[in-house]
Amino acid sequence: MFQVPDLPYQYDALQPVISKKIMELHHDKHHAAYVNNLNKAVTGTEFESMDIEELLKKLDSIPENIRMTVRNNGGGHANHTFFWEIMRSPMQNNQPTGKISQLLTKQFGSFETFKEQFANAGMTRFGSGWAWLVKKHDGALAIYSSPNQDSPLMQGDMPILGVDVWEHAYYLDYLNDRAAYLSKWWDVVNWDEVAKRLT
Ligand SMILES: [Fe+2]
Repeated sequence: MFQVPDLPYQYDALQPVISKKIMELHHDKHHAAYVNNLNKAVTGTEFESMDIEELLKKLDSIPENIRMTVRNNGGGHANHTFFWEIMRSPMQNNQPTGKISQLLTKQFGSFETFKEQFANAGMTRFGSGWAWLVKKHDGALAIYSSPNQDSPLMQGDMPILGVDVWEHAYYLDYLNDRAAYLSKWWDVVNWDEVAKRLT
């Protein structure tokens, strides 16, 4: 059975960028609902004991009657687990260092250009979804967004950085101002965890 992991910090750790109230609802209600729905769909099948990332990579082999439920709720479980891990308490001038810094500059020209392109992916995602920095098969980094709870794992890409742009992720703090949320969100990125995902 799949389980909601504990947050790697307190509910109020991301304030003032993300409030305690949002974190409580987002983790205890939204993430929990994805896990409950996923478990309901896969209980009693060969998929119930599979690693969530493996499950999403093998979506095509899942029976059609539960495939969309697994896609939405398994994606929701993997995406949110990832999201909690790549954040930490806010830091001013929060920037990557070392290898990931060099790779971002090499691929996108500068850290500022990378941030602009990543935020743009989040801004232009119509409705609900995620913006991603991924590592492709050939090792190249790429930025794109996905609809709903689709994960880069579903198309064989490795998520390196991702931000939830569903309204449930920011509405209580930023109302309809997704741009303000995405702009402040850089302060809580845990670049040490992001760097680990590159290697
Ligand atoms: Fe979410």
